[in-house]
Amino acid sequence: MSKTYDVVVIGAGPAGYVAAIRAAQLGMRVACIDEWKNKDGKNAFGGTCLNAGCIPSKVLLESSELYHRAGHEFKKHGINVGKVDLDVATMQKRRAGIVRQLTGGIAGLFKANKVDGLVGHGKLLAGKKVEFTPVDGEPEVIEAGSVIIATGSAPIELPFAKFDGEHIVDSWDAIEFAEVPKRLGVIGAGVIGLELGSVWSRLGSEVTIIEAMHDFLFMADREIAAVAGKDFKKQGLDIKLGAKLTGAKVGKSGVTVEYEDAGIPKTIEVDKLVVAVGRKPYTDNLFAEDSGIQLDARGFIEVDDECRTRVKGVYAVGDCVRGPMLAHKGSEEGVMAADLIAGEVAEVNYDVIPSVIYTAPEIAWVGKTEQEIKESGRAYKTGSFPFAASGRAKAMEQTSGMVKIISAVDDDEILGVHIVGPMAGELIAEAVLAMEFSASTEDIQRTIHAHPSLAEAMHEASLAVDNKALNYPNKKAG
Ligand code: FAD
Ligand code: NAI
Repeated sequence: MSKTYDVVVIGAGPAGYVAAIRAAQLGMRVACIDEWKNKDGKNAFGGTCLNAGCIPSKVLLESSELYHRAGHEFKKHGINVGKVDLDVATMQKRRAGIVRQLTGGIAGLFKANKVDGLVGHGKLLAGKKVEFTPVDGEPEVIEAGSVIIATGSAPIELPFAKFDGEHIVDSWDAIEFAEVPKRLGVIGAGVIGLELGSVWSRLGSEVTIIEAMHDFLFMADREIAAVAGKDFKKQGLDIKLGAKLTGAKVGKSGVTVEYEDAGIPKTIEVDKLVVAVGRKPYTDNLFAEDSGIQLDARGFIEVDDECRTRVKGVYAVGDCVRGPMLAHKGSEEGVMAADLIAGEVAEVNYDVIPSVIYTAPEIAWVGKTEQEIKESGRAYKTGSFPFAASGRAKAMEQTSGMVKIISAVDDDEILGVHIVGPMAGELIAEAVLAMEFSASTEDIQRTIHAHPSLAEAMHEASLAVDNKALNYPNKKAG
């Protein structure tokens, strides 16, 4: 007789494992199937985020930032450390150790919540049945009351710069470099290009980033992107905008990268080339022909606002469905799907999803950019406060950047908050909460912020929206 569960989740990344835990907390019998295998050959829960994405990249961003600051900033504080040595092997060992702890933690959470974590491949059959093939085992069919698909995404490969795992690599390989490449090329000045470009640049690589778009960080507020772009240039990141990659050839001396800049053919030589031009939904060998699931033109699983597929009782969440490819977006969708299966009321507020780029300075935003609001035609007012005027930021020697708040003229609604500067990824949480609770700008103005803190920049920016800033000259009214 085949096994039965109330809920079977396929994929144990941040969307799937969270969905499984929530469903179990709601009293359902749950299995979560995952096939992720790390480079050491071991299986691990946690998906891209914990094994090859969010976590390992943030670990290296932290380590490389400390190395950079020890070499470049400590002197200003009157701390002389002599020559700062780099030990990449130890840095990478720490990164792998943190990943192991966290992915092992998911296995522990599964146990604590009585979720059956099944290691192997899952395939959706017709009639809410799932074929589970354990690693080195025979397929078996599991019957499910409901199914949640959370199979994530994979890097996009360019036909003329195919991954070889050695010279032309994806972000996962670039996280696990054993040595600092002398010359590093990156295709794509998106989130991965900037984060991993920063890591290796701080550790000593000469980094050249080739970006097809003319506008730097086109998805961010223009003012914020301009500040960040200037800072990255100062740090030595060579970002070539409006540059079209035309080829990449591996030779004896590394990789010859061919691109066109304003129509003029150019080449650069690099030791490693990271291709980070976006990710695509991952649905390989996931559906039986008669499963009834539809994919859209870009390969995403079609779902409604509540992550329901066309097949009753089958949900899909995370990177494999529309919307930003972010861990926290996937987790919230996982929670929503589990709640809905249990008959609870649930929704995801897609208008209030924070974005963070963990460079130095950090970049974070929530809501609409000034360009988007301008295009919408709604009358708006803006206020900003530079970290150069923040006592805490000065103490931290991190004065670059600002907080910018955009609010509606008619009812004072906060429409967008954009930050570039120290701890932007932490500061944005206040803006997310304010917007989630439909706070007005005045609500932030009347909220007490500790002194001295970086959060005061949020307070001052909210005051500046109405020309009431206390610690920085206000712009003229109007
Ligand atoms: P995934 O994490 O990709 O998990 C899917 C899981 O399903 C995988 O384990 C996969 O092996 C498994 N699977 C797939 N198909 C099957 C099958 N048929 N059977 C069994 N198992 C299957 N996002 C952030 O919010 N913040 C960050 O700082 C951040 N940094 C990133 C850095 C990098 C370098 C990268 C690449 C991504 C980063 N992301 C970040 C994005 C984030 O990793 C993804 O948005 C997130 O992992 C998506 O979660 P998911 O659960 O949908 O998919
Ligand atoms: P991305 O979409 O952020 O950036 C890709 C960049 O490559 C774009 O700027 C695009 O214009 C450029 N590009 C595309 N084709 C090109 C070509 N042929 N030549 C030159 N440039 C080209 O994608 P990225 O950086 O690969 O990241 C994938 C996803 O992972 C992101 O969508 C993001 O959601 C997620 N992520 C999130 C992080 C975070 O939240 N901090 C960190 C890293 C990744």
